[in-house]
Amino acid sequence: MTIALVVHQSVRGTTKAMAEAIAAHLNSRGLEAKALPLGLASAAEVAAADIVLLGCWTGGLFVFLQHPDGPWKEYVAGLPPLKARKLGLFTTYLLATGSMFTRMKEALAGKGPEVTLLLRSRGPSLSDAQREKLDRFIA
Ligand SMILES: Cc1cc2nc3c(=O)[nH]c(=O)nc-3n(C[C@H](O)[C@H](O)[C@H](O)COP(=O)(O)O)c2cc1C
Repeated sequence: MTIALVVHQSVRGTTKAMAEAIAAHLNSRGLEAKALPLGLASAAEVAAADIVLLGCWTGGLFVFLQHPDGPWKEYVAGLPPLKARKLGLFTTYLLATGSMFTRMKEALAGKGPEVTLLLRSRGPSLSDAQREKLDRFIA
């Protein structure tokens, strides 16, 4: 069974809901997927998962200087090297994600495989195109 963890940092619930939609889609494809907030995703569990998706809400000055928040950066800094064969990132935002994914990748540098999925959403739900992207990511 392929284990997928969808780990999220959400303040107002949008990114949490997106993470749950991602996990539900992966479960519908036969994976053993669950969405967990940072505080419930132990470093050991994340390190051992086959597929890891890490998400955070987009913070910044709306049109520039976007970045993951402090708790997300601290969490990622504390992760051991990941065994995962697939690593993806996701975020929710209102106007523009700008430097968000670049900053997230910098925080993860050297921890796991190359990031091969970037998903951004203005709301909690996934579009058909995003579901197809997820299908290609796990293939
Ligand atoms: C302090 C603050 C800064 C934000 N900065 C940005 C930004 O730079 N770009 C953007 O598109 N959205 C920005 N947003 C909007 C959030 O990213 C968006 O509402 C997100 O979906 C919130 O996720 P959450 O519900 O999981 O906390 C900001 C929101 C807050 C509260």
